[in-house]
Amino acid sequence: MVTDHTPVDTRKRRLRDLRISVTDRCNLRCTYCMPAEVFGPDYKFLPRSEILDYEELARLARVFAALGVSKLRITGGEPLLRRDLPDFIAMLAGIPGIEDIALTTNGILLPKLAKPLAQAGLNRVTVSLDSLDDETFGKLNGRGVGVKPVLAGIEAAEQAGLGPVKVNMVVQRGVNDQDILPMAEFFRGSGRILRFIEFMDVGTTNGWRMDKVVPSREVWRVINQRWPLESAEPNYQGEVARRWRYADGQGEIGLISSVTNTFCGDCTRARLSARGELYTCLFAATGTDLRGPLRAGKTDAELRALVEGVWKAREDRYSEIRNENTAGLPKAEMSYLGG
Ligand code: GTP
Ligand code: 5AD
Ligand code: SF4
Ligand code: SF4
Repeated sequence: MVTDHTPVDTRKRRLRDLRISVTDRCNLRCTYCMPAEVFGPDYKFLPRSEILDYEELARLARVFAALGVSKLRITGGEPLLRRDLPDFIAMLAGIPGIEDIALTTNGILLPKLAKPLAQAGLNRVTVSLDSLDDETFGKLNGRGVGVKPVLAGIEAAEQAGLGPVKVNMVVQRGVNDQDILPMAEFFRGSGRILRFIEFMDVGTTNGWRMDKVVPSREVWRVINQRWPLESAEPNYQGEVARRWRYADGQGEIGLISSVTNTFCGDCTRARLSARGELYTCLFAATGTDLRGPLRAGKTDAELRALVEGVWKAREDRYSEIRNENTAGLPKAEMSYLGG
């Protein structure tokens, strides 16, 4: 919904999407996101009192909706770990101007939660899965969890009407690049949309190096050689994934090239951490505290003015200036600020 209030940043980008992290915890320890050596038994996750409750998060979502946000994505950590999540979805679904509510998950808890989430008003889910080989996947997710529970989660989502399910695969050289073709083959013709994501230097703990990135064009070449691909139009302006259709009609894939083909120019995304900080870039070190003003009794109009001011001053374009040296800059962890 474009309103009179819809702010534009210094690069003429509107505010359209809000990604809300509901928890910084996860039941997996993917090496590229929450490496087990760092996120070990002694790691201090946010205590309950630091985290916004659902009423507070929904109130902020309402403020963002009044500024033009029409799309919400619920993330984490693993969002399905947060108790009574369907209640929160129901609150969000009732906000005027919100047209699309999606959720990114590792899928493991979907068999239990897909139905209540759909009933509450969730529209669709994206499930992360990096390999179909139990050993590779178990190593990558840091917890030895096999592929089966994730596939069961995808099926549960489909049965609940949350399809078509998108599947995210983060590709790393020497780790799971041998799985590109098997993954493509498995998901071809299934109605699920597999997306290949370039490994990114989010946070500071995942050991990112440029030579571990498998450029999307390489993924494209490998698949196109086996099953010819045709370019497909974006679903909307600023779509992160470039879409490619199988020429034989067996569905489509997406390529997300945040390292080799950046998309900052169209970036309309804001992120809200579980603690109530507003981040205007996935690679930012700090966010703007909204919890303080919220708990101090600021009105909706005052909160709206605060968010509007932050957005208007926004200059972010990290992926465009990334190089080997920027990788070491201080940055918030993805599990904390939301993917
Ligand atoms: P839809 O198109 O609405 O289905 O969602 P999406 O593709 O934007 O959402 P999703 O969460 O599945 O995003 C896929 C992946 O793209 C994320 O997990 C990130 O790895 C990457 N990504 C999403 N947004 C950004 C962004 O703003 N900047 C960068 N650099 N990467 C992003
Ligand atoms: N690089 C690229 N994608 C990542 N994700 C998490 N960490 C990274 C990273 N370092 C992806 C996950 C999940 C989504 C939330 O973000 O695979 O699908
Ligand atoms: Fe958890 Fe998702 Fe991060 Fe993996 S990528 S550790 S499943 S939040
Ligand atoms: Fe948006 Fe920052 Fe990602 Fe660029 S790097 S697309 S500005 S979140």
